[in-house]
Amino acid sequence: MQAFDVVVIGAGAAGMMCAAQAGQGGLRVALLDHSPKLGEKIRISGGGRCNFTNVRVTEDNFVGENPRFARHALAQYTPQHFIDLVKRHGIAFHEKHKGQLFCDHKSDDIINMLAQECNAGRVHWCRPHSVNHVAHNGQRFQLDTTAGPMQARSLVVATGGLPVPAIGATDFGLRLAKQFGHALVDHRPALVPLTFNAEQWAPFSALAGVALPVRSRGSEASAPWFDEDLLFTHRGLSGPAVLQASSYWQSGHPITLNLSGQPGGCEAYQQQLLAAAQGSRAQADNWLAQQLPHWPKRLLSTWQAMHLPEPLATRKVAELGKKQIAPLARGIAQWQVLPSGTEGYKKAEVMRGGVSTADLQPKTMESRKVPGLYFIGEVVDVTGWLGGYNFQWAWASGYAAAHAIRRAMA
Ligand code: FDA
Repeated sequence: MQAFDVVVIGAGAAGMMCAAQAGQGGLRVALLDHSPKLGEKIRISGGGRCNFTNVRVTEDNFVGENPRFARHALAQYTPQHFIDLVKRHGIAFHEKHKGQLFCDHKSDDIINMLAQECNAGRVHWCRPHSVNHVAHNGQRFQLDTTAGPMQARSLVVATGGLPVPAIGATDFGLRLAKQFGHALVDHRPALVPLTFNAEQWAPFSALAGVALPVRSRGSEASAPWFDEDLLFTHRGLSGPAVLQASSYWQSGHPITLNLSGQPGGCEAYQQQLLAAAQGSRAQADNWLAQQLPHWPKRLLSTWQAMHLPEPLATRKVAELGKKQIAPLARGIAQWQVLPSGTEGYKKAEVMRGGVSTADLQPKTMESRKVPGLYFIGEVVDVTGWLGGYNFQWAWASGYAAAHAIRRAMA
């Protein structure tokens, strides 16, 4: 029987941060992962360059049953803390877009850095190994693993979410939470492309590859507007605008897209179009093209066919009234589309839902049900926006748990 102060299950972003911090505090830490490759999610993140944090992170950048839960951990370990760590390791990085920080070279820089931090904490690597069974005798956790039996005073679950099962995602963390009496929040793919049924999508299928900046919003009442790029695909919609909206999308409800290039709402855009139409001598279809100079041609002709059909298209635009302009404005500034589904966990970047925050202490990530049991990272019902927020949550929740365990064992 190998005895440790802490066993961390899952050597991903949150697990490595937690193990390193606990080990560097003098604790005997085992870090177990079933995958033969280390930190695969980190490796494929950010297009291979890992968008490892964002310069501005608050709890407002997260969604879940209680987004305020993330606040304490995020305050304990800020983006600047991680940036300092990255700098100490001499990793070159740059800011790309909206505060998103990426490695200049490869995501491996971050994986190697975290592995070195674990080694500095004398973390006992235990991989590729898996856990068959976990029990708690009121004092210690007993683990039956493929590396033999282990026991520990604290157990940290950092097995992540369900996206990309091909690289080792499992529902282990959710099952373990259930075993110990934790409530689960229904999970679903988030930051994921949205799909439409073939018949409904037929008018748009020729637009595959078209991209443009838009404002997007999911269907939930709390959904914010995102200013990002939209991408038409063969099966539906993608691009950052739709990935962001997907995290706030409820099945059976439409998402809203403002393609006008104007920040105001539909009403303001309608007034703008009416004013521009008045007194114009242009033919309606040419006039519409002038109003939307940022639109790719293919998009423009699809929209003209839908919202400005013959004989309207060839009339003088000044002859069109509110009756014709209002639906046109709505189709541009308030396009509501009803997805039939998502591309699923194969293509999702994160899982929404997971271990309910109601049963966890926000400052420490410790279970309210079983002392010494911790849940960190994506397995918890805290889901970040696109832009480095999910890694910041992984670092911050891992740090919070490690320091709570250090305090508890001091
Ligand atoms: P993570 O998934 O990193 O680690 C979980 C670990 O647990 C894995 O090593 C896994 O093998 C192990 N495990 C699972 N089940 C196990 C079991 N039964 N037994 C043992 N081990 C087990 N975020 C961001 O902020 N910026 C970005 O650029 C991106 N980009 C991005 C791209 C793509 C394609 C995806 C899929 C995701 C992203 N993300 C992202 C999201 C980010 O990768 C994710 O939120 C974090 O990796 C979550 O960290 P965790 O440590 O919680 O899980």
